[in-house]
Amino acid sequence: MRKELVELRVNGRTHEIAIEPNALLLDVLRQDLQLTGCKRGCDDSSCGACTVLVDGVAMMACTRLAVSCEGEEITTIEGVSQHGSLAAIQKAYGDWGGAQCGYCTPGFVMTVKSLLAENPDPSEGDIRAALSSNLCRCTGYNQMYEAIRAAIAAEQEGPVISEWKRIFKPDSRSLLDIWVFDANPADWRTLLDWLSKKYRVSYFEDQAPASLPSFDAIWKRQQAATQLLRIDLGGFTANTHFLSCQEIEINVMPEDVDSRGKAGSVFNLAMGIARLLQKDVFFAPEHAGASAAELKAMAFCTIDSAGRLSLGKPSREIFR
Ligand code: FES
Ligand code: FES
Repeated sequence: MRKELVELRVNGRTHEIAIEPNALLLDVLRQDLQLTGCKRGCDDSSCGACTVLVDGVAMMACTRLAVSCEGEEITTIEGVSQHGSLAAIQKAYGDWGGAQCGYCTPGFVMTVKSLLAENPDPSEGDIRAALSSNLCRCTGYNQMYEAIRAAIAAEQEGPVISEWKRIFKPDSRSLLDIWVFDANPADWRTLLDWLSKKYRVSYFEDQAPASLPSFDAIWKRQQAATQLLRIDLGGFTANTHFLSCQEIEINVMPEDVDSRGKAGSVFNLAMGIARLLQKDVFFAPEHAGASAAELKAMAFCTIDSAGRLSLGKPSREIFR
């Protein structure tokens, strides 16, 4: 059959190759590009061992013609590693013994990557549904799901949290407030609902413990009482007052955060909020009277809605 010249984008690089029009993506990846991470495990599109990402969506490479992928971004397991080292998900999968022969592992990893891109906080049911098209012939699935849950946790933390733990010095006394600006009552309602499901929280009015009322009740009583929500982060707490609907401020006492592990818990809280509200979250110093613009300018670092961490100028001076 006459070959066609096509341009394929794979793992961030463009390849110009001559292929037959009926060549499967799986064969082109493995034979023409020597990307042998994706595997052929069946003859009937049922095993998922060949899973790759096409424009971020998990697809079986044995079901796509390579020529139909022109103009799309293909990611294989070889493109998942970061700067030459294993991605968080790959490392966790290895650490937890999620594989025996490993033949199915690249397919599982790619499916988990695609799931997390779409749903950063999947439930057990979401995970099982997403992985229902991937088969393993060696392991008991329970052990593998344990590994995958750990892998998902590691992927959620990812390299960002490693960087955060690296820059955070427990004795710096520089971790102070978590801020979300331009918030509205709907953000508060969403946040409150999420916090009360994900964390152990306790509620106080004028320093007296009370049961957590509905968001509307909190908002109504806002003028009459000083209300505090205490978020248990595992041995220490972060506190938030319901003072303003324009901003969400969560106070973390620097003397409480005396280890990198605790810094990780604080970071997870902030990253969860950024993703939940789809807003930037700032770590800024406590500074009564400062405007939002001033606090943003003073922020040590920012987490955006995709969980990316960027360091502000002060953090470069303080943490390095
Ligand atoms: S080789 Fe593609 S699904 Fe089995
Ligand atoms: S670990 Fe061998 S097929 Fe899954």
